[in-house]
Amino acid sequence: MTATVTVTAIGSGGDGLADDGGERLYIPHGAPGDRLVVEREGKAGDGWRARIVEHLADGPDRVPPACRHFGDCGGCSLQHVSAAAYQAWKRDRVVEALARQGIDTACIAPLVPAAPGDRRRLRLAVRPMGVRLLLGFNAAASHRIVEVTECPVAAPALATLLPRLRTALAPVWPRRKDGDIALTLTEGGVDLLLVVPGEFTGAARTALARLAEELDLARLSIAPDDRTLAEPIAIRRPPAVRFGPAAVVPPPGGFLQAGLAAERTLAGLVAEAIPAGAVVGDLHAGCGTFALAVASRARRVRAFDRDGPALDALLAGARAAGLGAKVAVERRDLDRRPLTTRDMRDWTAAILDPPRAGAAAQAATLAGAAVPIVVYVSCNPATFARDAAVLASGGLRPQRITPVDQFLWSPHVELVAVFRRSA
Ligand SMILES: C[S@@+](CC[C@H](N)C(=O)[O-])C[C@H]1O[C@@H](n2cnc3c(N)ncnc32)[C@H](O)[C@@H]1O
Repeated sequence: MTATVTVTAIGSGGDGLADDGGERLYIPHGAPGDRLVVEREGKAGDGWRARIVEHLADGPDRVPPACRHFGDCGGCSLQHVSAAAYQAWKRDRVVEALARQGIDTACIAPLVPAAPGDRRRLRLAVRPMGVRLLLGFNAAASHRIVEVTECPVAAPALATLLPRLRTALAPVWPRRKDGDIALTLTEGGVDLLLVVPGEFTGAARTALARLAEELDLARLSIAPDDRTLAEPIAIRRPPAVRFGPAAVVPPPGGFLQAGLAAERTLAGLVAEAIPAGAVVGDLHAGCGTFALAVASRARRVRAFDRDGPALDALLAGARAAGLGAKVAVERRDLDRRPLTTRDMRDWTAAILDPPRAGAAAQAATLAGAAVPIVVYVSCNPATFARDAAVLASGGLRPQRITPVDQFLWSPHVELVAVFRRSA
């Protein structure tokens, strides 16, 4: 069934929104003001997902996409709107989430925009196809692999490696096994992780080591799945990343902020909120992006995470940078065993950077603790706003909330919020 509609706005998932006889339509790649003929494809949330059949007229913010794969590749959903409209929409996502929780939005700063080519981590899907690999990003909401020949979002050193990987990896890839590869651009070069079930024989491992040489990789590792610790096959140079004065070698596939400039922005905003001489607790420290960015000026930093190898990397980096006496780590699942107010009794600042689910339990603890400064880094405005309301109920008022675009042309938005306890 087709309908002629006008797109009124962009929804939180990045789709164009339109009304069709009182029912909401979600239209991928629809821009506000577009006059479109669309066809319903199926139910979606409180309405229907619809595809564009014909463009009758373009809205004022529609622009040509930056990448030839836009519309097919599922990696980007918002290349078709102007930078100004896109950036305003991202900031509005934070404003709306906070307003829904009754939080004053006056302290929300302008969005820090993302630049093309900043993405230093990529994860791609792989399917063996005889003498070569089908290697690319999944199409939107699909397992179909789109074999990209360009990716303006990715660091050029990663994007240019993709054609070589398609042929070089094919002879060693386990037969008939779909998998993924994760690429990270580090100071030592590219860190490549193959995530694929199936055995690598001795000959395959030798071939992989040779391939690391040919492609001049920093490190090449393998893992059968994301739950199993990866096994390095070749380490030619340390795949180090820099956090403040420390060089850290993350475990293969370990979490890092996706963009280098974005990470520097996030770390800068965190560091400027933490006073010199602070006693800091970093609750989701990972490999130390923020803990090590603040450690030089802090009196002490205590870093928590449930990821042991990430904390090992953090501590090794701290020690090598001469910060070992100031930095301590503790492996701890903060959902199962949240920190208590007693654990935080001498802290003068806390950093939270939880996964998308947020940090409900620890926000509640912080609300009742005496910690005067809380810096919350979030990748999900909805769970952040929920937790911000809890912090506010305990007297921690947001002073400044800075939205940061780390995932260019996607619906995702990060933010750094600084809370101070009012007397
Ligand atoms: C968004 S990452 C941030 C990591 C680090 N702050 C950074 O910027 O690189 C979230 C971190 O929370 C950790 N994490 C997730 N769930 C956790 C839990 N229940 N307890 C402790 N840490 C957890 C993950 O291991 C991951 O390192």
